[in-house]
Amino acid sequence: MLMMLKKKEVISGEELSKEFLISRTAVWKNIQSLQSMGYEIESISGKGYRLTKIPDLLYPWELDLKILDSSKIYYFEKIDSTNRYASRLTPPALVLAERQEVGKGRLSRQWTSNAGGIYCSIVVKPEIDFVKLPVLSLVTSVALVEILRESYNLNAEIKWPNDVMVNNRKLSGILVEASGELDEINKVIIGIGINANQSRDDFPKELKNKITTIKDEKAYKIDRKELTKNLIERVLKRIYDFKENPDSILNLWRKYSCTLGKDVIIKGLKDGDVEGMAVDIDDSGALIVKKDNSEIKVTSGDVSLRLN
Ligand code: BTN
Repeated sequence: MLMMLKKKEVISGEELSKEFLISRTAVWKNIQSLQSMGYEIESISGKGYRLTKIPDLLYPWELDLKILDSSKIYYFEKIDSTNRYASRLTPPALVLAERQEVGKGRLSRQWTSNAGGIYCSIVVKPEIDFVKLPVLSLVTSVALVEILRESYNLNAEIKWPNDVMVNNRKLSGILVEASGELDEINKVIIGIGINANQSRDDFPKELKNKITTIKDEKAYKIDRKELTKNLIERVLKRIYDFKENPDSILNLWRKYSCTLGKDVIIKGLKDGDVEGMAVDIDDSGALIVKKDNSEIKVTSGDVSLRLN
């Protein structure tokens, strides 16, 4: 019914009832349920129904993903965590939510997941070794940075390992979780949280100065469906291509990085903080930090700039 409403400017109740072999009352009930899902449908007396607005929600049929079968897409208005739900699924799959009650962040933190943001988990089984796993988060941050630059003209950058930053504030975070044996990955969950149509004021006090949203940067609300669709298609395509061309993703990451060439401190490590100059990443995504004449490889932790 939705497809027919989208195709025609105005469609009569009679036409809909004939098309679906249902009564006019049943047509009206379907129209009401579409309205309760956020679709704005005008009823024009003597003429029929007119779809006037599609809601800003991540309904799978609105994303129309060509790269993933719709039976593998799970949508929730509210969920505890899309990554947690994804852990029960067989790849390939996708989990989308409008809000999360206990969004998981890196380093056991919580991810604020209020309405207006984008929360998704992509479930894949890539043909790569465990050591190359962090590269999947690089693939994802590169894809998002490109889309933010191309479609919204934002000066998006990547802070190691995979925070997407705009004007030195965090706009998106990526949490990659994997399961399997050392020599074989069973599945990888790529969880992505994007601050999209919220305002900074919707966030807890302690985060307000550290984060930003697309809406606050652009002063308009974006079409979240479009961003989500572009991102998922680009990430999945890149993951499938990765085996053929692993260097290209590392080079793109280097190009968009705001960490390389800076004096940094990495906190949150088991063996204490690491300080030095961030000089490169290796082909497993580890950050190479140079101090005096030695190089240290860092695989986790939180980077901040060292101020002299
Ligand atoms: C970070 O701390 O930077 C990573 C944040 C990742 C948040 C996303 S939101 C969708 C997915 N589900 C979760 O519970 N977490 C990730």
